Amino acid sequence: MNAKPIKRVGFVGLGIMGSRMARNLARKGFEVTVWNRTRSRAESLQADGIKIASSPAALASQVDAFCTCVSDPPALREVALGKEGLLASSRSGQLFVDFSTVSPEFSRELEAAAARQGVDFVEAPVTGSKTGAEKGTLLLMVGAKPGALERAQPIFQAVGEKVVHCGPVGAGSQVKLAGNALISMMLEGLCEGMLLTQRAGVDPRKFLEVVQSSGFRSPYYEFKGPSILRREFETHFSIDLMFKDLSLFLDSAARHRIPTPSIAAVRETYQLARAQGKGAQDIAAVVTALEDLSGEKLH
Ligand SMILES: NC(=O)c1ccc[n+]([C@@H]2O[C@H](COP(=O)([O-])OP(=O)(O)OC[C@H]3O[C@@H](n4cnc5c(N)ncnc54)[C@H](OP(=O)(O)O)[C@@H]3O)[C@@H](O)[C@H]2O)c1
Repeated sequence: MNAKPIKRVGFVGLGIMGSRMARNLARKGFEVTVWNRTRSRAESLQADGIKIASSPAALASQVDAFCTCVSDPPALREVALGKEGLLASSRSGQLFVDFSTVSPEFSRELEAAAARQGVDFVEAPVTGSKTGAEKGTLLLMVGAKPGALERAQPIFQAVGEKVVHCGPVGAGSQVKLAGNALISMMLEGLCEGMLLTQRAGVDPRKFLEVVQSSGFRSPYYEFKGPSILRREFETHFSIDLMFKDLSLFLDSAARHRIPTPSIAAVRETYQLARAQGKGAQDIAAVVTALEDLSGEKLH
C-alpha cells in the first residue's frame, strides 16, 4: 500500500468537538477540507483557510487522509458508507481516522469496508470534551493495526496530547464506552449526594469541599461540581450523546453477558432528562431531572 506523507486532511462532522479539531489540524499546518451536514458550521471555519467540500465523497477525492467526528453510528454510517459517503470515492493508500464514539462492532465493520478499498482505518474516540478539543489536549483511545496507528500519529499530535493504543480496531470504542459509563455514575453520585445533603439541611458546598479535599476527589468533579452549584449548563457534552453512549455500553454488556445494573439505572436518569426535553443540554443538567423527581432544587 502506498503510504505517502499526509498533507491534505479532510474532516467530516463539525459539531462541538469536530469544529475545534479541524481548526487545530489547520493551525498545525495541514491543508484542511471539511464537510458538515449543516453548511453554516463549515463556513465559520473558512477564516482559518479551511476549504469546504460539497459532499463526503467529494471531500475524500481531494485528500490524503479523512477524519470523522459525528454523533452516533447511524450518522457515521451515512457519511462513511452512504451513496455520497467517504468510501464511495476513496482510493487505495488513504487513511481514515474516526474520532466518533460508536460501537466496537461498527468500528470493525468500517475497518473491513475501508480495507476493501485499500484504505487504512483507525478508530480514535476521544476524551477531554470541548475544552480539550479547543486546546488540542485530547486523550485518544486508539484501536488500530500498528502500521495504521503509525500513519495517524501526525494527525493525533495536532488534536491531542496523549494516545493510548488499546488494541485492534474495536478496543478503543470498548474502552471509551466503559470510561463514559464511569463518569455517568460519578456525576449521578455527585448530584444525588448534593440533593440529599441539601434536603437534610446541610450546605452542598460543604459536601463538594470535602469530596475535593479527600480521597473522593476527581478532576471531573472540579469540572462539573462548581458549575452545577452555579447552575451553569452550557453544553460541553450533551445528554443525548451520553444516553447514546450508555445505550451502546448496555448493548455491549448484553452481547457479552456482563451484568451492569448500575449503568442500566443511571441511563434512566438520562432518559428522564430527554423526556423532559433536555437532550441538547449539558450532562450536568441531569441534576435538574433529579430535582424534578425529588422536589428539591439546589440553591
Ligand atoms: N462533546 C464532548 O464532550 C465529547 C467528548 C468525547 C467524545 N464525543 C463524541 O464525539 C462525537 C461528536 O460529539 P459532539 O459533542 O461534537 O457532537 P455535536 O456537537 O452534537 O455534533 C455532532 C455532529 O454530527 C453531525 N451529524 C449528526 N447526525 C448526522 C447525520 N445523520 N449525517 C451527517 N452528519 C450528522 C452533526 O451535523 P450537524 O451540524 O448538521 O448537526 C455534527 O457535525 C460523538 O460521537 C460524541 O459522543 C463528544
